Amino acid sequence: MGETTKILVCGGGNGAHCLAATASALPGVEVNVLTLFKDEAQRWSNVLGNDSIIVDATYNDGHTSEIRGKPKLITKDAMKAMEGVNVIFFVVPAFAHQQYFDELGPYIKPNTVLIGMPGQAGFEFQALKNLKQAAPTCAVISLESLPWACRILEFGKKVQILGFKDVLGASVIPGKGSYRQQPLQIVQSILGEKPLVKPTQNYIAVNLMAKSIIHPPLMYGQWRNWDGVALKESPLFYQGVDDEQADLLSKVSGEVVATASAIHKQRNDLDMSEVIHIYDWYSIYYRDQVSDNTSLKTCMVTNKAYNGLLHPMKKTDKGLVPDFTYRYTAEDIPYGLVVMKGIAECVGVKTPTIDTIVTWAQEKLGKEYLVGDALKGKDVNLSRAPQAFGFKTLEDLCSML
Ligand code: NAI
Repeated sequence: MGETTKILVCGGGNGAHCLAATASALPGVEVNVLTLFKDEAQRWSNVLGNDSIIVDATYNDGHTSEIRGKPKLITKDAMKAMEGVNVIFFVVPAFAHQQYFDELGPYIKPNTVLIGMPGQAGFEFQALKNLKQAAPTCAVISLESLPWACRILEFGKKVQILGFKDVLGASVIPGKGSYRQQPLQIVQSILGEKPLVKPTQNYIAVNLMAKSIIHPPLMYGQWRNWDGVALKESPLFYQGVDDEQADLLSKVSGEVVATASAIHKQRNDLDMSEVIHIYDWYSIYYRDQVSDNTSLKTCMVTNKAYNGLLHPMKKTDKGLVPDFTYRYTAEDIPYGLVVMKGIAECVGVKTPTIDTIVTWAQEKLGKEYLVGDALKGKDVNLSRAPQAFGFKTLEDLCSML
């Protein structure tokens, strides 16, 4: 990479630990870490001291290795964190993005590359809205997921990579900046060989393919008729899917695919063919894990990757009750289904199943996004629907391309 690349890693969780270490281990890369969460920066600096962060990595062929890397700085101070930085990775759950934009906004200069890792639905709208003046000369990349399955073993010191993704889809809004390398090449050089960062057709397609569509229909199907009586055990989440839940998910996915088709019909130049039905997606991407792919339900119930994963529950004196504030609703509604609903509204596609689920979930969350079937609720501006950022038509959405 020639001269030193200085990157900023935002966050202090599993993914931020991994990236802070693996990127610091690269020659010619210097890493600052910004975490705004409580006293996390201080705690992290204290426990790490002069040591490096250790990554226990298991590769997909089974071999393991230890990677060591030490960030230059771990701080809560956005100004210090941004010194000399023009590549920023946001490695936090979607609900925390706004906080980082608020703090970093004044220090983001033209020619900066911003990477949501993962971006999740609506990341681009939020990023560009918050950058204001710098926006036209910044690149905004949204990665579809984290590059790894990973978890912290010892806070601040040790993290485990359980597996690397083979391919990671990425949408790019390149902006008109001048970057040292192509923005996606920068990401690839920081992530290394695996996963392969693969550009997707356009950011609208990536938003419609976000996997946040999966959890809300399953939550709704499982709990909408719940009698309030505590349970002794948590039900299986994916592998416990019944016909009705599978049907709900299938309908939600159908509405998203219909939205993509309407976009292509209205703007032939926008290739939306990557937006496929969730059943086809399972059949392709989980081919090796699914033992029976005759239906969407069997794809989920027989999916090894989902072994033992349970519904999010809270303990009470009387037993277990569903946790409606867990990210399956708290994130996947405002930064998931509501974004897709917003895109559908921009192109005039009706989404009755999405509406039913959002209406149920917003009540559980104490929020109001939908009024009837329209995104007119008082909390739309807290979501990442395009309408929250002033985008109301397909032309508006295309103005970002
Ligand atoms: P995490 O759950 O480890 O993130 C926790 C971090 O988020 C905290 O350390 C803190 O820095 C920040 N945070 C938490 N609550 C906050 C608050 N109230 N205000 C401000 N910041 C707060 O997340 P992880 O595992 O690093 O994942 C990041 C994203 O990647 C998530 O959206 C996750 O769903 C996704 N993902 C994670 C995978 C994994 O293997 N860990 C795999 C695929 C996707």
